[in-house]
Amino acid sequence: RMLKRHMECRSDIQRLNAPFLALYESLIPPEEERAKQKQLLALLEKLVCKEWPEARLYLYGSCANSFGVSKSDIDVCLAFNEMDVNKSEILLKLADILQSDNLQNVQALTRARVPIVKLMDPATGISCDICINNVLAVVNTKLLRDYAKIDARLRQLAFIVKHWAKSRGVNETYQGTLSSYAYVLMCIHFLQQRRPAILPCLQGMETTYSVTVDDVECSYFDQVERLRNFGSSNKESVAQLVWAFFNYWAYGHDYANSVISVRTGSIISKQEKDWTRRIGNDRHLICMEDPFETSHDLGRVVDKFSIRVLREEFERAADVMQYDPNPCVTLFEPY
Ligand code: CTP
Ligand code: MG
Repeated sequence: RMLKRHMECRSDIQRLNAPFLALYESLIPPEEERAKQKQLLALLEKLVCKEWPEARLYLYGSCANSFGVSKSDIDVCLAFNEMDVNKSEILLKLADILQSDNLQNVQALTRARVPIVKLMDPATGISCDICINNVLAVVNTKLLRDYAKIDARLRQLAFIVKHWAKSRGVNETYQGTLSSYAYVLMCIHFLQQRRPAILPCLQGMETTYSVTVDDVECSYFDQVERLRNFGSSNKESVAQLVWAFFNYWAYGHDYANSVISVRTGSIISKQEKDWTRRIGNDRHLICMEDPFETSHDLGRVVDKFSIRVLREEFERAADVMQYDPNPCVTLFEPY
């Protein structure tokens, strides 16, 4: 399998840069969407504060990590000071409150892996998921946002990869493919590994930000304004990076032995993590360590069927990037 790897990129790769950048630009949410998100958050804050004056609302996920494309739903976390609150009870109460304020499609999903209330705000047209006390997600949202500030190519690459994954149907965790969060971490890791590196390893640097959440210490260097020139000696364009990203996941990654790790900025071995065999539902067929919850493999949703789907899609994408006359269209063709 490894032998098929394209060792050298097509000679006209630079020609593809403008169309990829244009696609990226077209996916960026317009300013008025931001304003509407803020408007909805303000409404939620007002409603929540009446019932639970000590609670706080945080945005997390793609609306706050800077990897959100236009028309995304927003993810909100309702945080209480005490950790062991009764989530179901709060979610049901919250659903009541939201319903009586004319928010639509209000649903409390108390049995989900991450229990949430879903709703749609008719005033802005925005849909929203609210979870309880998922503070780690708020912290990993900040980590992603901080990485995005270092080099513009991360956001460009990640938008294109997320758009590809959605178009090709491989961004569905309930079907055993990967979350958007996992794809962004794959992009960060990939840019940490370029030579010269395009991104540093923030968790490997001096600590300037530190919080402890659910007994997990989350610390890293967050003064990213000081790293604005970090990747500047690497001149690769977004088209070259898209090519190399898919080539890596199609033909370069050692699925049998490797774990990608943004925390260390390197590849670590499955052996070291004891992720060499199936335990319960965790099969470890494609391994990505969560930067803070290090026992969590973001690839654990992938099973023996979906790993084939994923790898075939990576190979298709790599081959399109190498041979297709019009990759910027073919890459995203519906499956
Ligand atoms: N998250 C997490 N662990 C996971 C999946 C998600 O901590 N295994 C958290 C992350 O903070 C992530 C957020 O949940 O940012 C939302 O996840 P996801 O829906 O995958 O990503 P979004 O960035 O919101 O992507 P999309 O634009 O597709 O909504
Ligand atoms: Mg989301």
